[in-house]
Amino acid sequence: MLESMQRLLTGLQPSGALHIGNYLGALKPFADMYGKYESFLMVADYHALTSLRKPDELRQNIREVVRSYVAAGVDPKKATIFQQSRVQEHTELAWIFECLVTVPFLELSHAYKDKLAKGLEANAGLFNYPMLMAADILLYDTDFVPVGADQRQHIEYAREAAAKFNNAYGQTFKEPEGLISDTIATIPGTDGKKMSKSYGNTIPLFGSKDEIAKAVMSIVTDSTGERPENVYAIHALFQTKDKLDSLYAEKKGKYKDLKEALVEDIETLVAPMRAKYDSISDADVLDILKEGSHRAREFASAKMRDVCEKVGVNV
Ligand code: TYM
Repeated sequence: MLESMQRLLTGLQPSGALHIGNYLGALKPFADMYGKYESFLMVADYHALTSLRKPDELRQNIREVVRSYVAAGVDPKKATIFQQSRVQEHTELAWIFECLVTVPFLELSHAYKDKLAKGLEANAGLFNYPMLMAADILLYDTDFVPVGADQRQHIEYAREAAAKFNNAYGQTFKEPEGLISDTIATIPGTDGKKMSKSYGNTIPLFGSKDEIAKAVMSIVTDSTGERPENVYAIHALFQTKDKLDSLYAEKKGKYKDLKEALVEDIETLVAPMRAKYDSISDADVLDILKEGSHRAREFASAKMRDVCEKVGVNV
């Protein structure tokens, strides 16, 4: 039965506090559908090393990602929640893909180009990032990858890596599809740009009500328009259009009241998740990761045996 189920996989970098963009763009879509698939949920800790060099912070972030997965409604008995670094096959397969793709191909990566555009030097890990992510996805014969729009290019890279390997060594990998919902593909931040840790425009997912309120109060409002568009755009993610339209008509020009209403609507969604989040102990997190990573390794090592056979490193 399990063998015939389609597979779902997604991942999150433990590079900082999760925000509502992570939740609405990836976590919630995963939590809503994972029961129908054989599902994998990864903590992309090696990916986080491309930007984070604080060991204690990384350790804490890894635990927070696991807590967030469970608090968002994922049952660790029904999905394999695992840590990328505990499954060595990810970095092994990434190396094999790196030997198949060219430097100009990787130079097209948006994340790499953005770094250069800012006049910064990219580390080699960031440059090779898409091949590690391809390995994450392809090791599990993944059919679908629920992500936000910013990951679209990475899914393309994974498909290309699969095609290049299959072309060189014979059919081995499935080409996965990204699941990117139109309405939540890019959740806006407090300044109207994509919500992102690196832009400092986030609303924290598991922050206290005060922290959420502080972020909401900082939403940039344009006083010339009919309604504060940045506030409305975020509010529309939490409330029906009918309710919002009458609220925004009634409170026209009263930006503070509208922001307070948004805080309450976010709080209604987040409060039960926060309670669940707080109830998960460090010991629970370690058990989940131990069990999930063990299970992930069973899939990954079987796949890697096939890969090693095909490329000719097993003698
Ligand atoms: P990361 O950690 O940056 O983000 C995790 C997920 O949150 C989504 N997301 C958003 N969605 C909508 N609007 C936003 N403003 C927003 N901000 C973030 C991201 O699209 C993502 O789905 N490379 C990945 C991690 C990764 C991965 C994987 C994902 C590593 N291996 C394999 C899927 C499969 C990343 O950096 O996501």
